Amino acid sequence: MNIILIGPPGAGKGTQAHRLVAERGMVQLSTGDMLRAARTSGTEMGKQVAAVMDRGELVTDEIVIGLIAEQLDSNADAGFIFDGFPRTLAQADALGELLESKGQSLQAVVEMQVDDDALVKRITGRFTCGECGTGYHDEFKQPAVEGKCDSCGAEGGFKRRPDDNEDALRTRLMAYYKDTSPLIGYYYAKGQLKRIDGLGDIEEVAGRIAGALDG
Ligand code: AP5
Repeated sequence: MNIILIGPPGAGKGTQAHRLVAERGMVQLSTGDMLRAARTSGTEMGKQVAAVMDRGELVTDEIVIGLIAEQLDSNADAGFIFDGFPRTLAQADALGELLESKGQSLQAVVEMQVDDDALVKRITGRFTCGECGTGYHDEFKQPAVEGKCDSCGAEGGFKRRPDDNEDALRTRLMAYYKDTSPLIGYYYAKGQLKRIDGLGDIEEVAGRIAGALDG
């Protein structure tokens, strides 16, 4: 089953994608994670996109479509989770064509609906393990042992994203409403859209996603 998780910044796409990987063996393809990895490894592309990402603007379609195209031959028997991609109509068209060229298709597009006040709270409290990328939150999801990652056991290596500040978040939200939200209508018209309430705790939201995928 190939699915898209779509929603504004902080909707919980990455959090829920990690669960689907652990529970169903699906493969997460997050363009945000790929771009951050390119930055860290100092590639030419990583240098090009760093300032764009820090401002909260969208990276060019050409770059992100190229990143996804490189991954579609990965072994993913249980399917792909597209997290943060597509974000524009051009990316959605490209994804459809890429999947078709591999003899694959999309089974569901899950829209996670969360209001702006909750998004600001989630984004400004977020931190992740620098080793394995597991996500945490100052208020909603603290590690069981302070300073130690629940998943990989790394100590003291937590980090915060440079674009998780109020200015960049405002730009990211505007990019979502302007460029990405038209995809809701696009996938609705194709009969692939499933809408879920993204408010509530992480378990509750996971249950709603499972219901949307299996129901
Ligand atoms: P990207 O990394 O995709 O960021 P985003 O879409 O802004 O999404 P986030 O990762 O911020 O949020 P999320 O929905 O995954 O929430 P999370 O699960 O972490 O993109 C970053 C940048 O890269 C873009 O701005 C752009 O520049 C570029 N880019 C990426 N893809 C691109 C593309 N396709 N085209 C062009 N440019 C692209 O949760 C957030 C916090 O809330 C966490 O702390 C978590 O613990 C907590 N939380 C999660 N669920 C709940 C819950 N139910 N209750 C309480 N807390 C919760």
